[in-house]
Amino acid sequence: MTERSLVLVKPDAFARGLTGEVIRRIEAKGYTLVALKVLTPTRDMLAQHYAEHEGKPFYEGLLEFMASGPVTAVCIEGVRCIPGFRSLAGKTDPTEALPGTIRGDLGRDWGQGATHNIVHGSDSPESAARELGIWFPELG
Ligand code: RTP
Ligand code: MG
Repeated sequence: MTERSLVLVKPDAFARGLTGEVIRRIEAKGYTLVALKVLTPTRDMLAQHYAEHEGKPFYEGLLEFMASGPVTAVCIEGVRCIPGFRSLAGKTDPTEALPGTIRGDLGRDWGQGATHNIVHGSDSPESAARELGIWFPELG
C-alpha cells in the first residue's frame, strides 16, 4: 500500500551540513521525494506539529530548538514508507540509536538529551495526514 510520510530534517542537521546525507539515504532506500522545502518554522506551526507533546518536560526546549534555524520538510512516498522511514531514522535518543541508522550514524548527545536528533518522521497514517497538512497544505 503506497503511503506518504512527513520527514523533517532538523536544524542540527542543517547547521552541520547533513541535510543532503539524510535525503541521500531516503533516496537510496528507494522512497520517492514528492515535495521538499527549506524553511525556518514559526512557533505556531511547531505548536500544531508537536501538540501531542505539550506539557512534557522537553516541550519548550524542543520548540525553541526547532525554531532555531532552517528545517527541510520532505514529503516522501512508497509502500510502507511510514514504518520504513522510522526504521531508517533509528531510536529517538541518538546515543541509543544503532549504527546504520540516521540518528545512530549522524547524531549524538550535545547536552540536551534526545532533542537534537537530526530527523522527524511521522509515526502513523493519521499523523502523516495531519502533519503533511501543516507543512504541505498545497498538496491537498
Ligand atoms: P519524531 O517525532 O521527531 O520523529 O521523533 P520520535 O517519534 O522518535 O520522538 P517523540 O517521542 O515523538 O518526540 C518528539 C521529539 O521530541 C524530542 N525529544 N526530546 N529530551 C528528551 O527527552 C526528548 N524526548 C523527545 C526529540 O527531538 C523527538 O524527536
Ligand atoms: Mg514522534
